[in-house]
Amino acid sequence: MKEALKEAKIGVIYKSRYGTARQYAAWIAEELGADLLERSAVDASRLASYDLVVYGGGIYGGKINGVDLVANHECGRLVIFTVGLADPASAEYFYEVVDTNLQERVHKNAAVFHLRGGIDYKRLGFAHRATMAVLRRMALKRSPEERSEVERLVLETYGSKSKIDFVRRDAIEPLVGHVKGVVAGLGV
Ligand SMILES: Cc1cc2nc3c(=O)[nH]c(=O)nc-3n(C[C@H](O)[C@H](O)[C@H](O)COP(=O)(O)O)c2cc1C
Repeated sequence: MKEALKEAKIGVIYKSRYGTARQYAAWIAEELGADLLERSAVDASRLASYDLVVYGGGIYGGKINGVDLVANHECGRLVIFTVGLADPASAEYFYEVVDTNLQERVHKNAAVFHLRGGIDYKRLGFAHRATMAVLRRMALKRSPEERSEVERLVLETYGSKSKIDFVRRDAIEPLVGHVKGVVAGLGV
């Protein structure tokens, strides 16, 4: 299995606004001995040069940041990871995220993993700060039972002086294990 991993050409591509998706991507690339690439540095034509591509991006308003790169272009074996505040155990929430971000053609052939990120309200850019304020106002108008997973998290964390950080290296293990399994079957 180790030999197959050494031979396979794997690219880990990420788009990250505040660094959590970048951190996960760096750990994944290190574990897999893969190329680590920022999304803006990758031309879509380069995707086909990899035996397997891992793409990761933060979730913003339910959208996976930059995922169009792999969703709209030809790409062989594909693994996608999302990074959000929502608890990856919230199956219903993530079912919706996958459904709205990836056409059936894409998610039928890609393995998708959900990793938990974080938020540091002090570092938010102006637009994100405003979005969070709107989300909070909307959440407050709803009864607790009606609130979405993300609205609940915004209310719990909003304005927090300290950084909320759910990033854990061991969370990448299922994804890394999956990639190793795929690569072992490639016979490269
Ligand atoms: C404006 C804004 C919108 C967000 N929307 C969502 C969301 O819809 N679902 C979610 O799980 N997390 C959401 N988050 C949390 C981010 O996904 C989280 O901070 C993640 O770690 C960001 O990854 P990045 O720093 O690599 O870009 C949002 C954060 C901000 C600032």
